[in-house]
Amino acid sequence: MPRLAIVSAMHEELAAVLALMPDESRQAVAGREFWVGHLHGQEVVAVLSRIGKVAAATTAAVLVERFGVDRIVFTGVAGGLAPGVEVGHVVVADAFLQHDLDASPIFPRYEVPLYGTDRFATDGPLSERLAAAAQRALPGTRLHRGLVISGDRFVSTDSESRHLQAVLPQALAVEMEGAAIAQVCHDYGVPFAAVRTVSDRADDAAHGDFTRFVREVASRHSAAIVQALLS
Ligand code: ADE
Repeated sequence: MPRLAIVSAMHEELAAVLALMPDESRQAVAGREFWVGHLHGQEVVAVLSRIGKVAAATTAAVLVERFGVDRIVFTGVAGGLAPGVEVGHVVVADAFLQHDLDASPIFPRYEVPLYGTDRFATDGPLSERLAAAAQRALPGTRLHRGLVISGDRFVSTDSESRHLQAVLPQALAVEMEGAAIAQVCHDYGVPFAAVRTVSDRADDAAHGDFTRFVREVASRHSAAIVQALLS
């Protein structure tokens, strides 16, 4: 039977999804708890990756190697970067790039050494389904599709946000895990899709906006989108 992984970085992003899995069994691997159960009759493994690229990569590798998942979906929040990507909007990633990766001058800026690319695409059909689910779950919410960038930094100043917009003008939003999971999924040939609700604008107000959003909205949005995806 197909096994879908649902990943979030923080408890605030996944709490309402876990509440939908009454028959889960919990297994601890690599310091994380993996909830194995069912949602709408489908086999699901839900897990909190923790924050950052290394934590996300470890989680994705365990999901594939130990739990045999055949698709990974990430749901969580991101900082809006491009003009018009505002708090409360939803972004479904078409591709991910690591904005803090720099092996120049040996390799071009952002290129993942020895992969010959600076970005990994998400799975097309799974991303289509995820975008359709987000629109059904959150009617009237603005949905964006495109490049999302990841790095081990919480971007929380106007100047850093402006810099990222200038050097990576295609980037819709910034977060801290997606590019790592995309690379692991590329390595294993496992389809990956990611949806992020915009919690802040990665600017001087990001800290307060993020904290408020994850406390009040993030988990509800994730659960609604996951339910729409599986129903
Ligand atoms: N996730 C949500 N908001 C973010 C930000 N401003 N920077 C990095 N990751 C984020």
